Amino acid sequence: MSTGEGPEHPAWVIRPFCMSDYPAVLRLWQTAGEGVSVRPSDRPEEIAKKCARDADLFLVAESQGALVGVIMGAWDGRRGWLHHLAVEASYRRRGVARALICQVEERLRAKGCLKINLLVGKANQHARALYRQLGYDEMTDYVPMGKEL
Ligand SMILES: CC(C)(COP(=O)(O)OP(=O)(O)OC[C@H]1O[C@@H](n2cnc3c(N)ncnc32)[C@H](O)[C@@H]1OP(=O)(O)O)[C@@H](O)C(=O)NCCC(=O)NCCS
Repeated sequence: MSTGEGPEHPAWVIRPFCMSDYPAVLRLWQTAGEGVSVRPSDRPEEIAKKCARDADLFLVAESQGALVGVIMGAWDGRRGWLHHLAVEASYRRRGVARALICQVEERLRAKGCLKINLLVGKANQHARALYRQLGYDEMTDYVPMGKEL
């Protein structure tokens, strides 16, 4: 799968998530700052449900045996979704997020997906810059809505 290598940094590789990655992935989310909120849907039993549905869209970046990036893609049959993108601080600005997003996009395209949506915090200028750079438009005509079940 995709790899990246910088002059001062070890190579990384992108591969699908597996449940044994859960503790490391949770740590990445918990240390990502305000960009990622860890919620009840991130408990192991909920993650297992997600994996039973479309594990091939849940990807991690690994370098020297450590997880340095994660993205949870999803496909609901109409739209693709991106959730919980996070890159370990010392690996940022090396193209890890770009590679994770592009890999999910490729997989969604192969499933017949025509459009990808995601939510970014208004104050998260880094993520907004990243997604704009990759061709995502801010949908200012909509208000995000949700309901806890
Ligand atoms: C946002 C985040 C995922 C970016 O990861 P990353 O691996 O550093 O991003 P990339 O190196 O792939 O960046 C690709 C492009 O996005 C833009 N970008 C990324 N980080 C940026 C930043 N801090 N400031 C401005 N632009 C940025 C740049 O255009 C960059 O290209 P360049 O480095 O050639 O200029 C990372 O900062 C992170 O984990 N943040 C905390 C969690 C978070 O906010 N997640 C997003 C939830 S919606």
